[in-house]
Amino acid sequence: MRKKNMEYFILILSAMIAFALSLGARATYQYFQIDIFNKINIGSFISALVIVLITIIDYLISNKIYKGVYYFFNYRKVRNRLEKQMIDAGFAIKRSYYLELPRIRLTFNKDLSKGRLMLRNTLKFDVKLDKVVMSSALGKYIVERHYLTDDGNYYIYEFVDGSLSFKIEFKTFNEFLEYNKNIPTYKLFLDKRYVVKLQHCLLVGMTGSGKTYALYNLILQMLNKNVKYELYYADPKGSSLAVIGSSIAKDRTAVDVDSIIVLLENFVQLMRQRKGELKKLLENKIDSDYSTFGLKPYIFICDEYASLASVIASCEKKTRDKVKSLLYEVILQGRQLGFFLFLVMQKSDATLIDTALRDNIPLKIVLGNSEQQTYVTTFGAGVEIPNRNYKLGEGIFTEPVLAQEPKLVQCPYLNFNILQACKSSSPGGVTTRAPETKQL
Ligand SMILES: Nc1ncnc2c1ncn2[C@@H]1O[C@H](COP(=O)(O)OP(=O)(O)OP(=O)(O)O)[C@@H](O)[C@H]1O
Ligand SMILES: [Mg+2]
Repeated sequence: MRKKNMEYFILILSAMIAFALSLGARATYQYFQIDIFNKINIGSFISALVIVLITIIDYLISNKIYKGVYYFFNYRKVRNRLEKQMIDAGFAIKRSYYLELPRIRLTFNKDLSKGRLMLRNTLKFDVKLDKVVMSSALGKYIVERHYLTDDGNYYIYEFVDGSLSFKIEFKTFNEFLEYNKNIPTYKLFLDKRYVVKLQHCLLVGMTGSGKTYALYNLILQMLNKNVKYELYYADPKGSSLAVIGSSIAKDRTAVDVDSIIVLLENFVQLMRQRKGELKKLLENKIDSDYSTFGLKPYIFICDEYASLASVIASCEKKTRDKVKSLLYEVILQGRQLGFFLFLVMQKSDATLIDTALRDNIPLKIVLGNSEQQTYVTTFGAGVEIPNRNYKLGEGIFTEPVLAQEPKLVQCPYLNFNILQACKSSSPGGVTTRAPETKQL
């Protein structure tokens, strides 16, 4: 029996005894009798009532009734399930008459969409608590991150309601523009919850998981900012990204490998120029970057990077070294200068992308249900991946500020003509765009 249940059991038993005594119960060594026709003993009766009341109040308060009825029921349900599962999993210590669990502190936010579980660390369970997949004990909630507090006394598990959707559906392009105007100029939204800083990005996922579609969302945001982003489109497979690129910026779109290398060289050339410009600006404000001075960002987007990498791998060493050093230059220097790489690929093994290059990309997204190997190569070994059947455009991401451990992301559904929207978002494109809106 759990410790708390044992306490309730003792309280209820004492209430029953007090109640029986109030009815005139007498116990002798021969028999136990209740004489209900005797006068009720008020003192014992009140004691019984007080004990029952104390038990009920303690039960309600310890299950957080003061936070509302929904909160109470949700708390009770999750906690009960958690305690049972912890006992089954051997997290309880058997004391003389009861089972003692590590101290549990469970909290939810107001709308019960996410919460936090704190478990007291113990010598006995330390490693086990670190490794356990806690999501299975939390019902509809899935753990997104877990860590040990600075003093090492508690394990914290942050969880979200897995049944909720954070996916946005844009029925029209105007709706998209309306939403986008509330996003700061140098930031991008991934779904309803997450708005990330503009930074290098690696987008990974099996075929058909929604990578290119996720790119459309990001491209449309970039094309509709106050400060217009300069986008470069490299699509070695010559699929839809090439169609979009060539319809809005032919000179910044490349399909065959040679022209992609030339495009990358031009991109890096501009980055070097920016370096000179920024150097002068930084003299007045040393600890800042391109965004402080309102400069426009440059983005080099490469869909199906793996097929580019595999062609380059078969080129002569000079070409291989050149491409490698260009990519490294952007990855290592681009952040302050406002030059970013967005690489899209199905797998991120070291055979397809240099480990050092991959490790220097801060925003990493894996869409769809990928193999364990893909998660390991993208996020590193020993990282907990939320258990879930990822649908189209859904996956997980890591980012140094918002998601040091993989968090759920659900890319928006763009229920409008994407090509038309891209054209109308860029100068020289078809002029069917919604009224210009001011960005934050
Ligand atoms: N966020 C989303 N919401 C709704 N539908 C989506 C979403 N993402 C993708 N889809 C659907 O899935 C289809 C496939 O997506 P997409 O072409 O982006 O996959 P991919 O990962 O780029 O595949 P490949 O590796 O073969 O290029 C899209 O045509 C679209 O219909
Ligand atoms: Mg694709």
